[in-house]
Amino acid sequence: MVGSNAVETHYSNAGIVDRILATFDPGEEVTPDTLAPMDHFHGRGLNATRDLAVLLDPQPNDHVLDLGCGIGGPARWFAAHFKCRVSGIDLTADYCAAASALTEATGQTDRVRITHGNALETPYEDATFDRAYSQNVVMNIADKQAIYREAFRVLKPGGLLALSNLGEGPNGPPYYPTPWAESAETSFLASLEQTRTDLQAVGFEIGSLEDATPRIRPLVIATLEKFESEGFPERNVYVVLGERFRDLQFNSMRSTRDGKLTMIEALVRKPVR
Ligand SMILES: C[S@@+](CC[C@H](N)C(=O)[O-])C[C@H]1O[C@@H](n2cnc3c(N)ncnc32)[C@H](O)[C@@H]1O
Repeated sequence: MVGSNAVETHYSNAGIVDRILATFDPGEEVTPDTLAPMDHFHGRGLNATRDLAVLLDPQPNDHVLDLGCGIGGPARWFAAHFKCRVSGIDLTADYCAAASALTEATGQTDRVRITHGNALETPYEDATFDRAYSQNVVMNIADKQAIYREAFRVLKPGGLLALSNLGEGPNGPPYYPTPWAESAETSFLASLEQTRTDLQAVGFEIGSLEDATPRIRPLVIATLEKFESEGFPERNVYVVLGERFRDLQFNSMRSTRDGKLTMIEALVRKPVR
């Protein structure tokens, strides 16, 4: 896949689990909730995953797919709070190793399974999953119909796909480097209407499709101002990528503030034929 090496190179990072566990006090329990400030690997952290959960509404024992699962925070959190099983797939080998180690540490290997691979060509059988989600991944994927088509293939008829994606803003490209890309070379931001077109082109029925920026932007600006004046908290998603990630996060938050990014949320359904 064009650009996939550059994407994996951007994200690759050794020592993730050690850095995360170093923030724990001796004897402190490692759970999906205590990990949450660090292992939901996107700017809005657990708040974004909670919003996604409201959209997806996973049911006990559902088999749920996480496309681009990162280090597995959302997968573990969904499994713990909704009693579903989650299979996560991610392009970055370091993240898959960290995701598996953290899943072992939280005692969830019976409910969460991580696979190293490309979300555009997954190893899963047709009609495997009840629900699927992808959070802040498609910004790295030029051919968005390819990932949506793959989600459509592996969902059961009637299955749901929830998306939470950064999209293009009205005021031009974001400030690079961002948390997902060094430069425009590996950044592919879609508009709301292009997202609708791509989802419908592969066969999904649109349940909801929203530009959530007006709801989310004030919260991002408040967080930006807090971090600018007080610095980052010890437990924060920057721990995943190390100190440099603070600058990348600032670039993302300032891009949202300045109208260079939007937040797109969607819930779509594979029709029951
Ligand atoms: C910003 S992180 C988000 C991780 C996770 N979804 C979360 O919310 O915690 C983006 C992730 O997308 C993954 N990714 C990008 N392109 C991918 C692809 N084609 N297939 C699978 N994973 C991909 C990256 O490796 C990275 O882990």
